[in-house]
Amino acid sequence: MVPKISTLSGYLYEYQKSVANPAGFWSHIAETFYWHKPWTKTLEWDFHKPEVKWFLNGQLNITENIFERHLFLRAKQPAIIWEPNDPSEPHRVLTYEELYEEVNRFANVLKSLGVKKGDRVAMYLPMIPELVIVMLATARIGAIHSIVFAGFSAKALAERINDAQAKILITADGGFRGTKVIPLKQTADEAIRSTPIVEKTIVVRRVGQNIQWNDNRDLWWHDLMKDASPRCEAEIMDAEDPLFILYTSGSTGKPKGVLHTIGGYMVYTAYTFRNVFQYRDGDVYFCAADIGWITGHSYIVYGPLLEGATSVMFEGIPTYPKPDRYWQIIEKYGVNEFYTSPTAIRSLLAKGEEWVDKYEMPTLRVLGTVGEPINEEAWHWYHDHVGKGRCPIVDTWWQTETGGIMISPLAGIIPTKPAYATLPLPGVRPVIVDNEGKKLYGKNVEGNLCIEFPWPGMARTLWGDHERYKQAYFSAFPGLYFTGDGVKRDEDGYYRILGRIDDVINVSGHRLGTAEIENALNEHPLVAESAVVGYPHPIKGQGIYAFVVAPEKLKGLDDELRESLRKGVAKLISPIAKPDKIQFVSGLPKTRSGKIMRRILRKIVQGSTDFGDTSTLTNPEIIEELIQGYQK
Ligand code: WTA
Repeated sequence: MVPKISTLSGYLYEYQKSVANPAGFWSHIAETFYWHKPWTKTLEWDFHKPEVKWFLNGQLNITENIFERHLFLRAKQPAIIWEPNDPSEPHRVLTYEELYEEVNRFANVLKSLGVKKGDRVAMYLPMIPELVIVMLATARIGAIHSIVFAGFSAKALAERINDAQAKILITADGGFRGTKVIPLKQTADEAIRSTPIVEKTIVVRRVGQNIQWNDNRDLWWHDLMKDASPRCEAEIMDAEDPLFILYTSGSTGKPKGVLHTIGGYMVYTAYTFRNVFQYRDGDVYFCAADIGWITGHSYIVYGPLLEGATSVMFEGIPTYPKPDRYWQIIEKYGVNEFYTSPTAIRSLLAKGEEWVDKYEMPTLRVLGTVGEPINEEAWHWYHDHVGKGRCPIVDTWWQTETGGIMISPLAGIIPTKPAYATLPLPGVRPVIVDNEGKKLYGKNVEGNLCIEFPWPGMARTLWGDHERYKQAYFSAFPGLYFTGDGVKRDEDGYYRILGRIDDVINVSGHRLGTAEIENALNEHPLVAESAVVGYPHPIKGQGIYAFVVAPEKLKGLDDELRESLRKGVAKLISPIAKPDKIQFVSGLPKTRSGKIMRRILRKIVQGSTDFGDTSTLTNPEIIEELIQGYQK
């Protein structure tokens, strides 16, 4: 187990130690894991190149650190408790031993299909235990997993498979989400038409619906697993070998394949899980995220299982069958730590207190949030109604690229303050810089959030495009990792995250690039041009507002075109990317160099008219039209 901080002075002491001697600090933590060969150097780095390596030449397999390391004590302890979408269907428990055997079986299946160390395996699965099995089986044989969120469209899936060059895709006949059945296999079939690289598709039977079958390519999971051996020796890997690729949105159209490597990610997710949530052996921990996003990777699967925890995995949605589903699950399994998003909290808050107030949830000890800024109202509701005033809230700030939590209270140790992520974890060195890159020291400052020193969990590159990695994170402020977030440090030295300052928007905790949505809108034959910005939304945090130039649009058919544009975006990206509001305009505010002045659009959708300097606009007269047509 990793060392656990238990007091405020302990935190201050560890933090100081991590700054004074980072290599010594992280070595001490890494030593608690099982390595085939110890590392010869703890850290090598250069943020200008950029290059970061941790635990150099160390050899290990991450799944041995989940299984072999824990089986002696925890063979019969639940590793995963799976709660199905429909509460009347039986739940499933996989003990450490059972999960171990399933992982080994599937590792053997992958091997029998010719998957080797370094190959990429793509997954397009609902929240079912097979997803965890596939991830860990891939890691067991040294292959690289690339999970695509099951809400993405065929086009988005195909784009990700092609970028990663994955030869195998694992999917399901479908998935349940509330009252809906999602036709995953059908979408996967559509995607595969444009992914010549895919040789085999493995299909898990989940919904039992009729699906199309391609005898040359499709294989049933249950057929393959039937005779597979439950033992598979772990491939010995280098600490800096890749563990997974996870695509996320950036400020340009193409999604970024964030790459994490084995050793550093392992040490970082385990350490942050244990310390932030103050997990105690025997606790039941429930993270309500989806494994298709980084939160699920790091804090449903890797962090908890590396620490020998019992992790609850939920297939459904918080409002099905009724808006008390989370609270039911918490009581059913005696959950001690619960982790969700501000959007989920706001949507449940809107359903009324009666749904939560009837649940005592006596076992709850810690509450967490992630993915977007939490507003004070939601924070207090979470604290008072869910936590009954007795559970600390950990507002955890981090990103796909950071691998694990960076700024957050340690539960019950660092005093909280609504809407503040509070203080950096040991080993994390945030700096605030102004737009010229000048570091802003001291209290009561606001600016761009950067990190000035490497931490083990950080992404090492973007798959196949190291130059883009440099451009995206290390070029705005040379020598620093730039997060894309704005931040404020208050009089207590506490950090408050203000949200993205680049062309990324955060809708219901989902990260979307405005450029991707614009590209999708522009595909419509009637659209000449478009610009997308986020606007404050009471439930989703940010909503999507699209300004669309469609000169040929027939008069009076606005609503029809709006609907068709929304459908188009759902089809090209995902239903989560559908614009909430679409305003048809005759032009967009542009500078002489032809760039859209987004600052003005952002002001308009916030209902503000304080545009600042507009003298570089070629068409200042357009502003009045935009304000007039603004869709409240
Ligand atoms: C935002 C999710 C405020 C932020 C783990 C970041 C937050 C982006 C918080 C990353 C928080 C995440 N408070 N904002 N506690 N946590 N964010 O990659 O803008 O999906 O840059 O990772 O979410 O989103 P991603």
